[in-house]
Amino acid sequence: MTSYRPRRLRTTPAMRRLVREVRPHPGELVWAVFIHEELAEPRPIASLPGVSQHPLAAVPALVDAAVEAGVGGLMIFAIPAVRDARGSGAVDPDGILNRAIRAAADAAGERLVIMADLCLDEFTDHGHCGVLSADGRVDNDATLAVYAEMGLAQARAGAHVLGLSGMMDHQVAVVREALEAEGFTDVSLLAYAAKYASAFYGPFREAVDSQLEGDRRSYQIDPANGLQGLHEAELDEFEGADIVMVKPALPYLDVVAEVAAQSRVPVAAYHVSGEYAQIEAAAANGWLDRRAAHLEALTSMRRAGADIIVTYAALELAAWLKEN
Ligand code: PBG
Repeated sequence: MTSYRPRRLRTTPAMRRLVREVRPHPGELVWAVFIHEELAEPRPIASLPGVSQHPLAAVPALVDAAVEAGVGGLMIFAIPAVRDARGSGAVDPDGILNRAIRAAADAAGERLVIMADLCLDEFTDHGHCGVLSADGRVDNDATLAVYAEMGLAQARAGAHVLGLSGMMDHQVAVVREALEAEGFTDVSLLAYAAKYASAFYGPFREAVDSQLEGDRRSYQIDPANGLQGLHEAELDEFEGADIVMVKPALPYLDVVAEVAAQSRVPVAAYHVSGEYAQIEAAAANGWLDRRAAHLEALTSMRRAGADIIVTYAALELAAWLKEN
């Protein structure tokens, strides 16, 4: 018989609290929100219970709610009224996303980090993350030029962090260079570095009225590949990413852990729509304790090494963390 008795450290709530390795904090949460150009009232998203598309006018209130909850940042996605092949609404200073950024940045001041999705999929009529070449394929380098313009439009609107989610090669370098050239040296880049072609994005497609037919497998990473995720994260760090992200989160915690081990910049994890919806659906059936499941998911992402968590549940998580 040995004297090793790991249960000693689990004997009382006080002991368990003493030895706890991670203690998630509201300040590391980023609240993902949807702004819809055509709405006057919030519209619930059926596949994301508790999450709505919001009108532009709601942005200052969303900012205040985030600040009050103590969350670290707001990630803005926007749904335009009109789409075209090049995603022109994304680079238009009066496009819905850029207007939402401006409203959020004005409302936030220095109280909250305002982040914007930098990708064309909400703005193209074909729903792809980039522009298409004549043969219908997603054209990497033609897309980069649009991303550079989009990044500048978002920086001019006052975004603090640009969330590069399109998975085009060199997107970080090209947007960084465009920002430098215009003097936006303080705008940070959050690279969706290891973004997988995942089934867990299902509800997001409803949330942004996605026009996509087909899939994104020619630019997002095949779920079977861990090394490509590490490689992408490394390249994005070299290209000048200030933060690198792994997405989705829980099915890819191995990648989160390895990216955290290799990176010298903060690592984010995105608890995506399908991950959120799984918990909600099971909880609605009485099969899971909703609060406990959300908190455990958060704890697991942090334990794997993520410093920052993007989530639709940020406000509730923040409230629960304060209570605990
Ligand atoms: C692309 C983008 C997507 C998500 C975030 N940014 C959709 C996709 O890649 O198909 C998904 C997020 C989620 O599922 O919560 N702009």
